[in-house]
Amino acid sequence: MCGIVGYAGPVGPEASSRPIDVVLAGLTRLEYRGYDSAGVAVLGEDAVDVFKKAGKIKNLKEEVAGSEQTPSNVSIGHTRWATHGGPTDANAHPHRGGKKGELALVHNGIIENFAPLKDELLADGYEFSSQTDSEVAAHLVAREYAATGDLTEAMKNTVGRLEGAFTLLAIHEDAPDRVVAARRNSPLVIGLGEGENFLGSDVAAFVDFTKQAMEIGQDQIVTVTADSVDVIEFDGTPVADPKTYTIEWDAEAAQKSGYASFMAKEIHEQAEAIADTLVGRFENGRLTLEDMLIEESTLRSIDKIIVVACGTAANAGEVVKYAIEHWCRIPVEVELAHEFRYRDPIVSPKTLVVAISQSGETMDTLMAVRHAKEQGAKVVAICNTRGSTIPRESDAAIYLHVGPEIAVASTKAYLGQISACYLLGLYLAQVRGNFYGDEIQAVLDDLEQIPAKIQQVLDGSEQVEQLARDMVDATSVLFLGRHVGYPTALEGALKLKEIAYIHAEGFAAGELKHGPIALVEDGQPVFVVVPSPRGRDSLHSKVVSNIQEVRARGARTLVIAEEGDEDVLPYSDVVIRYPQTRTLFAPLLTIIPLQIFACELATAKGLDVDQPRNLAKSVTVE
Ligand code: F6R
Repeated sequence: MCGIVGYAGPVGPEASSRPIDVVLAGLTRLEYRGYDSAGVAVLGEDAVDVFKKAGKIKNLKEEVAGSEQTPSNVSIGHTRWATHGGPTDANAHPHRGGKKGELALVHNGIIENFAPLKDELLADGYEFSSQTDSEVAAHLVAREYAATGDLTEAMKNTVGRLEGAFTLLAIHEDAPDRVVAARRNSPLVIGLGEGENFLGSDVAAFVDFTKQAMEIGQDQIVTVTADSVDVIEFDGTPVADPKTYTIEWDAEAAQKSGYASFMAKEIHEQAEAIADTLVGRFENGRLTLEDMLIEESTLRSIDKIIVVACGTAANAGEVVKYAIEHWCRIPVEVELAHEFRYRDPIVSPKTLVVAISQSGETMDTLMAVRHAKEQGAKVVAICNTRGSTIPRESDAAIYLHVGPEIAVASTKAYLGQISACYLLGLYLAQVRGNFYGDEIQAVLDDLEQIPAKIQQVLDGSEQVEQLARDMVDATSVLFLGRHVGYPTALEGALKLKEIAYIHAEGFAAGELKHGPIALVEDGQPVFVVVPSPRGRDSLHSKVVSNIQEVRARGARTLVIAEEGDEDVLPYSDVVIRYPQTRTLFAPLLTIIPLQIFACELATAKGLDVDQPRNLAKSVTVE
C-alpha cells in the first residue's frame, strides 16, 4: 500500500529542479498511502542521485533542501508502508540496482519469491544494502539492462521472473530521458502533460499538474518520456489504444479517490486490502508466516491463548476465538487489554498472548503485553504498523498489510485483523498437527475467495446507503447476533456510536429474553445478523426465532442474511444479502453493510466522519 510517483521532463540543457519538486509534491499528496519513510531519485546528465529518509516526508524534504541538488530530467519517488524490513533509511525506496548503483527503482507491493532471487543475485556478485524484497527487482532490472542496453526490455525480462504483486518504476543513468514502469495487482496511472508526463499510484500524485490521465492495465509495461507514453503487455505486444480520461476531482477529493471521506474510501478498499493480507502466505503446501519467530516446539506446548486488545481490535479477537478454538482445540480467552492488566490474570510460559492492535501503539494493549511477558508468556502481535512498539516488544508479529488507515473509525484494519488471526489459527493447527496440508489448503481456498465476495457486498452498497439516509433521524439502534454474529453485532453498534453519535447496543441474540428485549418498542430499528442456514446445529433457526420475538414487539427488523435464505423473509422489514461462505468466515462479509450504514448515516447528518468528536486514532495513554 505504498505510494509511488514519477516524472519525465525535457532532456539536456532544460534540466532543472522541476522533476524533484513535482515528485516531492506528489509524495506529499500520497502520504496517506504510507508514511514510515520516503525517498526520491533524480537523474542528471550522467548519474543517479538518491535521497531517502525514515519518518514523514517532511524529513525527506529537509534532507533534499540541505543537499546539493543535481538538475535533472526525470525523477521517481516513494512513500513507504513497510512490509519486508523495518522503517529505516536503508529500507526506504528508491533502491539502487547494478554493481555501480547505476539504476534506481521504487516498488509498491510484495515480491513473494524474493529469497531465491536474492540468493541468485548474491552468487552473481550483487550487493544488498537493505532487508527489502524490492532491492532484488532493482538488481534484476540493472542486470538485464547490462545485457540488453534497453530499459523497457530489461523491465520486460524482469517481470517474468517475479511472483506476487508489484508496481515498479525504474530510471537508469544511461537512459536519461525515461521512466519505465510495470504493474501487476498494484495500481499505476499516467498523467499526460504538455512536454512532460507523470506517473503515480493514483491521480492524487499529479492532479495539481494535469487533469489528463491514462489507465495502465494489469500486466502492462509503460515507457514514459517528456513527449511519449508507450504501453506494452508483459509479453511485448504493443497496447494500441490505452484508455485515457479527464480527472474530474480536485486535489483533495483525489486523495480520497472521490469518496466523501477516508472512512468511505477505506471501506471500499477492503477487497484489495484483504487480498494483500492473504498474499504470499502459502508456499509448497505449507502456510508460512514471515515474522512468526516463536519456535514450533514452543507453539506445540501452548495450553491457552489470551487475546488482548481494545475497541474494534477486541471485537476482532471475539470473532477469531470461535475459529481458533475450532481449528486448534486450545481454549481462547478474549480480554480488554486494560482489564487484563489490572486483574492478576493467570498467565504462564504455556500461555500464548495475542495482542491485536492496528496502530501498534495503544498504551492499554502495550501494558498488557509487558505484563504478559513478565509472567513468562509468549506474545504474538497482530499489527498493521511496522516498526511500532507492540510488535517490537512482542516475540513475533503478523502484519496486516492493509495499508495506512486514516479514518479514526477502524474498518479495513478490522477485516485485516480477523484475516491475520485466521492465518495464525491455521498456522497453529498446522504446527500442532490438528490438521494437515490438504485440509489447510481447503480452508485457505475458501479464505482466498473472500476478497471477491467482499467486492460483491461492496458492489451492492447502494441499498444500505439509502437505508442510512432514510434513518438519518434515528436515535437508538439495536444489533443482534449469535456465535460469530455476536461480535459482528458489537462492532456494528460501536461504529454507529462512534461516528454517528447514535445510541446503539449490540447483544448476543440469546441474551435478549434475559433483559434487553424490554428496550424494544414500536418502530425500534433492530439489525439482526443471521448465520447461514447451511451451518451448524440449530443456530440459524434460533436466530430466526429471535427476529420473530423482536418483531412481535413492534421492532423494525433489518436483517443481514445469506443469499438464498428464504426463511427470514416473513419476518424482515429489510433484507440485506451476503454471499455464501463458511460460517467462520461470514464476519468478513456481514460487518460491511454495518460499516456502510454508520458511515453513510454520519455523512447524511453532516458530521466529520473521519475525525469524530472526543476520539483519536491512536490512544497512547492508559
Ligand atoms: C474503533 C477504533 C478503536 C480501536 C482501538 C484500538 O473504530 O478504531 O476502537 O480499535 O482504539 O486501536 P489499535 O487497534 O490501534 O490498538
